Amino acid sequence: MEDTTSSDRLLVTSALPYANGPIHIGHLAGAYLPADLFVRYQRLKGRDVAYICGSDEMGVAILMRAIREDRSPEEIIDTYHAQIRENFERFGMSFDYYGRTTSALHAETAQDFFRVLDEKDVFNLKTEEQLYDPEAEMFLADRFVVGTCPVCGFDEAYGDQCEQCGSTLSPTELEQPRSTLTDATPELKETTHWYLPLEEMQPKLEEWIDSHPEGKNNVLGQIKSWFDDELKDRAITRDVPWGVPVPADVAERHGLDAEGKVIYVWFDAPIGYISFTKEWASQENAPTKWKAYWQDDETELVHFIGKDNIVFHCLTFPGMLMEHGDFVLPDNVPANEFLNLEGQKLSTSRGWAVWLHEYLDDFGDERGPDLLRYALATTLPETKDADFSWEAFQQHVNGELADVLGNFVNRTLTFAHSTFDGTVPPLENPSDADQAVLDAIAETPDTVGQAYEAYRMREAVAETMELARIGNKYFNDTEPWHTRESDPTACANTIHVSLQVCAALSILMEPVLPDAAQRLQNMLRLSNVRSSTPDDDPNDAIGWDDAAAPILEEGHTLNEPEILFEKIDDDVIEAQIEKLRERAAEQDSDSTDTDMDYDDLKENIEFDDFMDLDLRVGTVTTAEPVPDADTLLRLEIDLGFEDRQILAGVAEQMAPGEVEGLQVVVVANMAPKEMFGLQSEGMVLMAEEPDGTFAPVTADAENGSVVR
Ligand code: 2FM
Ligand code: ZN
Repeated sequence: MEDTTSSDRLLVTSALPYANGPIHIGHLAGAYLPADLFVRYQRLKGRDVAYICGSDEMGVAILMRAIREDRSPEEIIDTYHAQIRENFERFGMSFDYYGRTTSALHAETAQDFFRVLDEKDVFNLKTEEQLYDPEAEMFLADRFVVGTCPVCGFDEAYGDQCEQCGSTLSPTELEQPRSTLTDATPELKETTHWYLPLEEMQPKLEEWIDSHPEGKNNVLGQIKSWFDDELKDRAITRDVPWGVPVPADVAERHGLDAEGKVIYVWFDAPIGYISFTKEWASQENAPTKWKAYWQDDETELVHFIGKDNIVFHCLTFPGMLMEHGDFVLPDNVPANEFLNLEGQKLSTSRGWAVWLHEYLDDFGDERGPDLLRYALATTLPETKDADFSWEAFQQHVNGELADVLGNFVNRTLTFAHSTFDGTVPPLENPSDADQAVLDAIAETPDTVGQAYEAYRMREAVAETMELARIGNKYFNDTEPWHTRESDPTACANTIHVSLQVCAALSILMEPVLPDAAQRLQNMLRLSNVRSSTPDDDPNDAIGWDDAAAPILEEGHTLNEPEILFEKIDDDVIEAQIEKLRERAAEQDSDSTDTDMDYDDLKENIEFDDFMDLDLRVGTVTTAEPVPDADTLLRLEIDLGFEDRQILAGVAEQMAPGEVEGLQVVVVANMAPKEMFGLQSEGMVLMAEEPDGTFAPVTADAENGSVVR
């Protein structure tokens, strides 16, 4: 078979999850399951894989959670690191190493990296006035400050980003800023920070991106739009009390005091991939082994991430690596889009999520993981956002895993026991039908493998299942229960070939269904299959490519069959849906009860002021996401007398399907405005609820009617 890979050594990473909350299915579908499928496949191919991940424990997000909950950051990260790590393991994530960015080696590695770039004079230092909370005695970086967005007027915009219009902001750009710590109005105070000069680095980065046209379209598209907008320098230090400290000697070089300054979390976190590879090497008693993975050009480096991390993995981190010079650059960053749940955006604050630990508690550590792995793998948001629903989950389990794969395996093995003494019968003079299935076995490893290599995990899993379908259909068509009497040779051939399909499947399904694959290998008494986990089993001979040829010898004895997949009853699914709804309702009412925070009434206006507004009824005929603007939906609205395009900042609250078809009230004489290269011709009225969610103001009237 043609070898499509450049080198044997493969370093794979998954985005380091923040240790400030549990993992949900959105995380799994973004950066974790696809990577795990990929590395398990590659290990079965016999490649030298290091799969590295760990908890992201620095940064303002952790500190804010600690402050909000009146706990120490250490308590937060210890709790969630342990929980995340445990649940990843229960789910079958096959990391070679899972670290933490609070380790001493990580601090040292990140500081060394920072020092090298500083000594190469890569950074720009800028001294500027920044927002400072005199009560908390702290500079207000990122989410420690909110205020009015200068672009869209949203009055809860964060210091780093406006979630309404998606604009990237710096804290001093906010109008009427206030501290999220004390509500105080910040003062301006001078401070100096290190900046990564992305503006200057843009040509180099463009050239590098251009040399990787094989990247995924959704990723390249997003990067191109960043380039079009021109990259801006980014501060990579912060004045906050939580993070990897800026090294004192580096500050001294510039006549500065490092006291109170830390490295920005997005600078240190990706360096974690390097630190953890070092820690892994030490754990393997080969402390210098990490170097081959990071410093030999032959290494293939792949970062799996969700789409919100694209800029950091495709621009910032590669830029840092280029400037440093001692490390390889990523070969691919196959970022996924977002996963929705039951037609709505996942929202942790609204409780609209399926948490991994709860799923595992409900569906069991033994059988549960494979079911979710399979259902998610068929639904990965590889090219666009995708939707997970409990009914679809049930359909995947019952209609595919149980009815096709499980049924095929069961009837084949049962027949082998009832008719052939639990051994593999001979194959003699295969018919065209037998041969066609043997041909399918021969082709499938390559077909599935090519899909994995191209990061088309859904296709890889569908092609794997296709072999089970072929096997099942063949079993039906050749009717061994009839040929048993009428044509024993044909009957033996059917069972022989079907068993070979089972054997091939037991290897090919291992990336997605590792537990069921092991159970099937046990039933077939296939003991010498290579491991798809980091377990070292040098004597195990059978690997991915071997699945192309019949594996089982005539006369080989089989174990008794067991049920591979149980069907899931309707009431189990209904209970999950109910749980989701109840929790969302609870959150909604909680926030109504406790966080009721009415805006102050505005000053009186004259009737004429109101009459200046031209409010009209319109029907939303189209609603779709706006590329790169996570918060916006592009709406087409029929106003009766004309159609309008309006960009509405509701994408985080509502899925397009929920908005489409609604009759809404539109400010029709709002001055048009361009956002993300699109004209917005008006505004849709929304009621903002106490928890900050939006509810559309609907009207049941002719389109074009005036509202007053
Ligand atoms: O978005 C996140 O959850 C970040 N903690 C991802 C970091 S990935 C890497 F660069 F470390
Ligand atoms: Zn804004």
